[in-house]
Amino acid sequence: MNISQIHLAPMVGRTDFFFRALIRILSKEINLYTEMITCDTFIHTDRKDYKVHPEEHFIAIQLAGSKPEMFSKCASMVKDNHYDEININVGCPSSKVVKGEFGACLMKSPDLLAEIIQSIKSQVDLPVSIKTRLGLDYDEDLSLLIELIDKTSEAGCRKFIIHARNAILGGMSPKKNRSIPSIRYHDALQIKNKYPHLQFILNGEINDLETIGMYVETFDGLMIGRKIYDDPMFLQNIYRGSNDMPKLSRTEVLDMYLQTISPHMKGKSNYILLRHLFGLHYNTPSSKKWKKLLHEVIQEEQSINRLLEFKEN
Ligand SMILES: Cc1cc2nc3c(=O)[nH]c(=O)nc-3n(C[C@H](O)[C@H](O)[C@H](O)COP(=O)(O)O)c2cc1C
Repeated sequence: MNISQIHLAPMVGRTDFFFRALIRILSKEINLYTEMITCDTFIHTDRKDYKVHPEEHFIAIQLAGSKPEMFSKCASMVKDNHYDEININVGCPSSKVVKGEFGACLMKSPDLLAEIIQSIKSQVDLPVSIKTRLGLDYDEDLSLLIELIDKTSEAGCRKFIIHARNAILGGMSPKKNRSIPSIRYHDALQIKNKYPHLQFILNGEINDLETIGMYVETFDGLMIGRKIYDDPMFLQNIYRGSNDMPKLSRTEVLDMYLQTISPHMKGKSNYILLRHLFGLHYNTPSSKKWKKLLHEVIQEEQSINRLLEFKEN
């Protein structure tokens, strides 16, 4: 398996600097993505928060919006932040996103998407990718996606991340939209085969080694979200046998994580620093005890060093 083919899915509230730091300890090769950031937020926020740290590469910034001029402005700013790629969110179905007319509903506007790509390309010489769904609502016809790929590839997009299910726009929560409707890998594969000159990354419910083994060579990459968040040590199973990383114990991972984040702790609550560690002992006899300790340290703002005294069962 080519280990550079694994991508960590962008997840709001999860794939912040601290979670990415944890994941980078477990794999030098995995491709990282930021949380989704609207163009408006990116333009108006303190860009220090979006600074890329040298060990983070490969890292893409995921932008959401619908106005080419806003993307163009963001693109000129991204240049100074040293991201490796700009990814456009065309998959998020939340009602806020639909009202703002971006995310998944942009599947209906392939010409606008092509314009957005051109506006980014006019500012910065970075690859642009799109993360999208197979279609909208319950229509399993692939023509929306095909038109999107035709027009955006012509505008210069060469990489498509396909969350292999439709997005339901009529008010279904984003959470439900990640399990309903069902996954259709075969349709994603049909798209991949139609465009051999473009790159396709498969996403959605890739939760075990069997599924990874089945699709890793068929697609140009696999993107994994919830499984890695819930069970970060799963990455060690993926990369077993590769030269990416020596096998680390959970204690070593914790130790390295606390060292990595120590220059970034000032002014941050324990919640921000530690909230992504709940899955560290996922499905082990120590899991319950670990979560209890972590809760205490977070809620009572206790010394983080207490975590280093944790003994596995
Ligand atoms: C908490 C959470 C937040 C998410 N935020 C984003 C996001 O910011 N941008 C995006 O494109 N997808 C987002 N997603 C969707 C994931 O990137 C991914 O497409 C989805 O979870 C399916 O992959 P999985 O089954 O491997 O988790 C989010 C998913 C979760 C669980």
